[in-house]
Amino acid sequence: MKRIYMDHSATTPVDPLVVDAMLPFFSETFGNASSLHSFGTESAEALSRARKQVADTIGALPEEIFFTSGGTESDNLAIRGVVPFNAGKKHMITSVIEHPAVLNTCAFLEELGHEVTYVPVDTDGVVDVDELEKSVRENTVLISVMHANNEVGTIQPLEIISDIAKEHNIYFHTDAVQSVGKIPVNVNDLGVDMLSISSHKIHGPKGVGALYVRKGTTISPIVFGGNHEKGIRSGTENVSGIVGFGKALELASERLEEDSLHMTRMRDSLISSVFDTISDVRLNGHPSLRLPNNVNISFKYVEGESMLMMLDMQGVAVSTGSACSSKSLNASHVLSALKIEDDFIHGSLRISLGRENTMDDIDHVVNALLETIAKLRAMSPLADK
Ligand SMILES: Cc1ncc(COP(=O)(O)O)c(C=O)c1O
Repeated sequence: MKRIYMDHSATTPVDPLVVDAMLPFFSETFGNASSLHSFGTESAEALSRARKQVADTIGALPEEIFFTSGGTESDNLAIRGVVPFNAGKKHMITSVIEHPAVLNTCAFLEELGHEVTYVPVDTDGVVDVDELEKSVRENTVLISVMHANNEVGTIQPLEIISDIAKEHNIYFHTDAVQSVGKIPVNVNDLGVDMLSISSHKIHGPKGVGALYVRKGTTISPIVFGGNHEKGIRSGTENVSGIVGFGKALELASERLEEDSLHMTRMRDSLISSVFDTISDVRLNGHPSLRLPNNVNISFKYVEGESMLMMLDMQGVAVSTGSACSSKSLNASHVLSALKIEDDFIHGSLRISLGRENTMDDIDHVVNALLETIAKLRAMSPLADK
């Protein structure tokens, strides 16, 4: 049976060129980058090269890049490294549709006595910028709004939010885990002070990522130890992982235009084929301000989990809601925030495309969807027969 992977927002296969770049760093160039002998300096040089690859991709300086264990840690570091360390400024602003890495960090800070405003979004998933501006207080220290949403793919107006942050002298962080490698990401164009990236979403290895921290931003560590990463993130660096991450980002930026065009074509073809052939369907997220690889679509009268299982039996891997919440049966907090009717929320699928998918894959998936929906609706007492 042909197997088709269309869950690239959850994770991606590691590119063979990335694997090649990493291999020597397991058993040949294995030194601890802090060691003073040549084994160590070779690893330290590899880290410097990777730091430059990451910095170049997002228009930053190498010294503004701090390697972490991934997007979750980068989000934690940006928020927990800034909010508690600004005496008298106890308030931060975020959006209701952030990834749990941001939302659960905010909930933790609230338990410690900090104040968080969660700004709503419109029915396309765009953050309400007027509400955001109204929620600015004298004691607001940080705004954290994601670049692109991991479930519905909506791209946020970060430039406008950055102007608000600058006007009020507030730090601005964005979680760019889903946007890097899909759309242009430049820290100066976006006007952000901090930006989170994860390697495994861009055909790099898992367990590695980075936080960009603009020069002049005061940040405290959340992990203490031997003062690696200039004391901001202690712990012996994952050299092979970081080398792979750097290579993956370099490839992603070289191929950005080509990949983005390819994914946009597949995305639009998938959406129009589904709308042409299946009734009672809804596209979730913004119709045009969305990631080129994201299709989040709801089918009335069917359960997302049943669709996922039946598609999996046909070799097609997709997701309901986001990967992190897909094991819970609660309605997705993102789809709820978009005020999508219950009937549609429970029948939603996230199909996230990758550079290795083809137009043939799209045809295959559309046919599998047609068959799946027809079977499930035939069993549903609610569906029109
Ligand atoms: C928007 C967003 N932020 C953060 C993360 C967490 O990244 P990581 O898996 O590297 O910890 C994810 C992963 O799904 C994500 O989609």
